Amino acid sequence: MDYRTLGATGTKVSELCFGTWRFGRKTGGVLETDETEAHELLDAFADRGGNFIDTANVYGNPNGMSEDWIGNWLETRDREDFVIASKVYFGFDPDNPNGSGLSRTHIRNQIEGTLDRLGTDYLDLYYIHRWDEETPIEETLSTLTGLVEDGKVNYLGASTMAAWQLTKALWKSEVNDYARFDVTQPLFHAAYYEDVADYLDVCADQDIAVCPYSPLAGGFLTGKYERADPDDPKSVRAPDGSRGSFDERFEKFYLSARGWTVLEEIRAIAEEVDATPAQVALRWLMDQSRFTCIPIVGARTVGQLDENVGAAEVDLSEDQHDRITQARYDEDGNIIKTGQ
Ligand SMILES: NC(=O)c1ccc[n+]([C@@H]2O[C@H](COP(=O)([O-])OP(=O)(O)OC[C@H]3O[C@@H](n4cnc5c(N)ncnc54)[C@H](OP(=O)(O)O)[C@@H]3O)[C@@H](O)[C@H]2O)c1
Repeated sequence: MDYRTLGATGTKVSELCFGTWRFGRKTGGVLETDETEAHELLDAFADRGGNFIDTANVYGNPNGMSEDWIGNWLETRDREDFVIASKVYFGFDPDNPNGSGLSRTHIRNQIEGTLDRLGTDYLDLYYIHRWDEETPIEETLSTLTGLVEDGKVNYLGASTMAAWQLTKALWKSEVNDYARFDVTQPLFHAAYYEDVADYLDVCADQDIAVCPYSPLAGGFLTGKYERADPDDPKSVRAPDGSRGSFDERFEKFYLSARGWTVLEEIRAIAEEVDATPAQVALRWLMDQSRFTCIPIVGARTVGQLDENVGAAEVDLSEDQHDRITQARYDEDGNIIKTGQ
């Protein structure tokens, strides 16, 4: 994999980031990725040139397990070869009234736990996982700025939020001389774009790197799912053991009329360029021209990871890129609604 500069920062990251949400996660009683598999995946990613790893304090059951396992793995590696991102916001300790959100108290408590579990004294990138309606953004930004000044965090990032919230935070950073959010992490894939268009406009205008999460719509855009009923976009034939076969969120978030239409175009283009649908869907993101775009892939096997890393070798013409972009509109030019 090649390396790209992360937006307006001076740091170089691999063209794909590796996401570790499934490390230690139990869904419907199924342990999705155990520690041995986690370390195999991290080894494979590093061996293929990957240096950018995404986690969060709340990944794993119990919370913190993903960070723990990455920390154990990092002991066998040179810490400085990797760009490690983690996040704060969601409830870590349900019994503590200050156990969630973006208050000074919670952020300062969480950064210590995160660094401890990762076995490092600094994070390359610290995201706010969500916007906190209950804490003034000035409190959050001044606390995060302190972490940057103390050398505990190199850069700040922001995950899912509204465009106005991102704009407000950037403005507060500018007028108060706080560190700013240099990286964002929205849900963004070929079938989910209009929904975050305003947010992405802010990123383009402000030279903010975009790291889309769920870039394959939880695996839907790999083409391994088949439509079971042409009249019902929620009805699917899911391979055994796939996320769609055991995770209720899959149907809710990823199955839609728009999704099937976009997938059809991605499948057609995959045939044309002799690649897989997963590679084409990832390449479409990597080729975004208005901002640095580093998809966060969430493979559960080394085979899946290899396929996804192969996106780095795929070439899409401008016309093929545009056909995927256009696939989300019906013949009257209206966006096909999700949930139809
Ligand atoms: N900021 C946030 O709020 C947020 C939210 C969600 C995720 N994230 C981050 O984004 C990362 C990626 O999210 P995601 O896991 O939803 O990403 P994704 O790439 O859209 O989905 C990953 C899933 O797709 C399937 N898959 C991936 N590659 C495949 C391939 N080549 N062939 C067949 N199936 C394949 C696997 O599922 P199965 O094998 O189980 O079918 C895998 O678990 C997470 O790990 C996390 O770091 C952040």
